[in-house]
Amino acid sequence: MNAPAEKINLTYPIKDTHSLKITNSLPDMGNGPISVGPYIQSEYFEKEKQKVFSRAWINMGRVSDLIPKPGDYVVRDLDVLGFTLLLIHGTDGVIRGFHNICPHRGNGLAIRESGNARTLVCTYHGWSFNLDGSLKHVVGEESFPAFDRADYGIPKITTDVWNGFIFVNAQEHPEQSLVEFLGGLGKDLENFPFNDFNHIARYSAHVGVNWKSFIDAFHEAYHLIMVHARSFPHMAVKPGVWLPTSVRLHGPHHSVSVWADPDHKASPAEALAWKYGAAFTPGKDVPLPGLNPSADDNWWFDINTFFPNFFIDVGSGWYFTYNFWPVSVDETIWEMNIYQLDAKNAGQQIAQEYTKCLLRDVLYEDLSTMERLHKAMHSGALKTILPGTFELAVRHQHWTVEQWVNS
Ligand code: FES
Ligand SMILES: [Fe+2]
Repeated sequence: MNAPAEKINLTYPIKDTHSLKITNSLPDMGNGPISVGPYIQSEYFEKEKQKVFSRAWINMGRVSDLIPKPGDYVVRDLDVLGFTLLLIHGTDGVIRGFHNICPHRGNGLAIRESGNARTLVCTYHGWSFNLDGSLKHVVGEESFPAFDRADYGIPKITTDVWNGFIFVNAQEHPEQSLVEFLGGLGKDLENFPFNDFNHIARYSAHVGVNWKSFIDAFHEAYHLIMVHARSFPHMAVKPGVWLPTSVRLHGPHHSVSVWADPDHKASPAEALAWKYGAAFTPGKDVPLPGLNPSADDNWWFDINTFFPNFFIDVGSGWYFTYNFWPVSVDETIWEMNIYQLDAKNAGQQIAQEYTKCLLRDVLYEDLSTMERLHKAMHSGALKTILPGTFELAVRHQHWTVEQWVNS
């Protein structure tokens, strides 16, 4: 079903130098309209929970943000996976995941959302547990005659860490290891120095839209010319800014590089804010391993979409992540975390503060379309959507969900 890569190379006559490279063979995903059914049907959403979210490796965030020190723990309700996760940073340095369940009679083990402990003690009858999940102490142990301590650890959830990012898998024995699952996209980013970056901002929103539509707004640049005409006026007004320069498919994941206008002139505010620090917009290049994998000319940044619901966008001197958490077929919670290299002086600090504010405005713009289009899908008047070649990532995400749901 794979078409030879050279057959789908496309060149757009917008600029001589500007072409879209699709660097690997594409599966046969079609190019016609896509039904809105999967975006609005509750039955489809139930299948996504079982066939997608319960099988894929799901990102939870970074160790350094969630549980940086031994003894740190954090609790997350994961409705889409059907369990409450307890992540613990062990005294041996190992990151482990558990159900937040006491095996005695099922009380929630950690009551707070996060904390630091040497032992976890259940608040119902006082059983206590070591940080590796093993049972430590049972009050009145002699009253349990048929009892093997080894059977009463905290129930485990498959957990692994890649490059400082924690992932969990609802399967006891996942079909693929985390590294296998991340595949070529993980390989491209394996040497990116994530640990050298500081967390500088976090944004989140709870929006009345299907999780796939939400994601669709973040892996194409076609909308820049309209949605971001105010926040990126010096780029968005030019034709061509909305073109990806290259697309790489890596199994269920994909990566899109975005074009930077070589004639871009910084606005007065940008020029001032980014004089001494890393810019979000094109400008100074900070060469880092993993950036611009297709060696595109006029490269701006890479949008890396890890199936099913996690992004790491990387640029010169910055990266940010998105996690999209489906709440129901009609609701999604979105989280963004922004990271930059250490601000070593006031000038760099100003650049980072400006970036935070600019991205906040950009994100408001992105979110502005969400609920309208979800309502349209429910109206009955919109039966299909039509992603074009510039929105290849939208089609690939949709197609991959279909493959997993029907597998
Ligand atoms: S439920 Fe936890 S000690 Fe009884
Ligand atoms: Fe956008």
